Amino acid sequence: MNSKLKKIPTNWKAYEELSVIEKGNLLSESPHTLLAQQFNRSYLEKLCALSTKIRHISKTIEGNTFLKTLLKDKRAMLYFAQPSSRTYLSFNAACQILGLDTMDVRDSKTSSEIKGESPEDTIRTFSSYADLIIMRHPTMGFAEKTAWILSKSNREIPVLNAGSGADQHPTQALLDIYTLERSFENQGGIDGKTILFVGDLKRGRTVRSLAWLLTLYNNIKLYFVAPNELQISNDILVLLEETNTEYILGNSLTEYLNKADAIYMTRLQDEWDQEGEKSNLEESFQINKNHLKIMKNHSVIMHPLPRRNEISIELDNEPQAIYWRQMRNGMWIRAALILSTFGRDSLINHWKEK
Ligand code: NCD
Repeated sequence: MNSKLKKIPTNWKAYEELSVIEKGNLLSESPHTLLAQQFNRSYLEKLCALSTKIRHISKTIEGNTFLKTLLKDKRAMLYFAQPSSRTYLSFNAACQILGLDTMDVRDSKTSSEIKGESPEDTIRTFSSYADLIIMRHPTMGFAEKTAWILSKSNREIPVLNAGSGADQHPTQALLDIYTLERSFENQGGIDGKTILFVGDLKRGRTVRSLAWLLTLYNNIKLYFVAPNELQISNDILVLLEETNTEYILGNSLTEYLNKADAIYMTRLQDEWDQEGEKSNLEESFQINKNHLKIMKNHSVIMHPLPRRNEISIELDNEPQAIYWRQMRNGMWIRAALILSTFGRDSLINHWKEK
């Protein structure tokens, strides 16, 4: 494994002090997927194209059988120390599509961490049995730390960050990009589009990662609609300014609805409330059938899910509601990511349609 991380002569602390852009550069040629900032546009396009190929090939029994040969010599460890339905299941399904066997720990209480084992030792244990670690952790930066630990061991296996703290969710951002790309296939792609983010943008890690990926497209406009206390954090705004990405901060969903090509709803992330804090998302940050009249004809409603009441269920079967498709896209893009993590993406060309 040829990881740039290995080349840093300094310690973890020195890595931690780098800016997110510097970290992204460092990670861009590593086997790990840890931060949205490590991707460039050509990689995103390559991954989306690969997802579509996998999706098409999987439509027949012969195709499925072929896909299952691609990584049948590999095993993945799914380490989810935080609740997850979609991310866990879609990663697991992605592994199955490619023939990878999976093992999992879904609760730190069931691993030896409860006996006082250090996270470092737990990670090295996982890497003894698996060829890939897919992990979700409540601690910001822990996936990076894991990759760092492994880069110093003699068995550096790739780490895929399936959500870390309230900070990053790079693979959700990938599936969101794939969903946007597919949605705007006949409207000139993602370039020039306006994306409206609504809800708890301060602690929504999916928004934070996706906002960055959108800076890789041309003439993008980002609208962030949230109560002031849950508005997107300054560190993201700084990145948007550095990349000359146009953005507006607001408090009113209806004010911006008619300008948006995609509306990205999010839930209240009150699991991050501090002691004594009682955060709230009022009705004005919810979308229902009446809003359809204000929306542009081709615009789409997305949500990383799970939802609470921010999208009325009466919208579920409307053509604008693409959150179910978005969820399924997660399986395809994660399969593409895993295949390319192992450097086997070109094997897909061995498939010949009968
Ligand atoms: C998101 C997450 O875990 O950050 N869920 C997901 O992965 N689809 C969003 C959320 O929990 O609100």
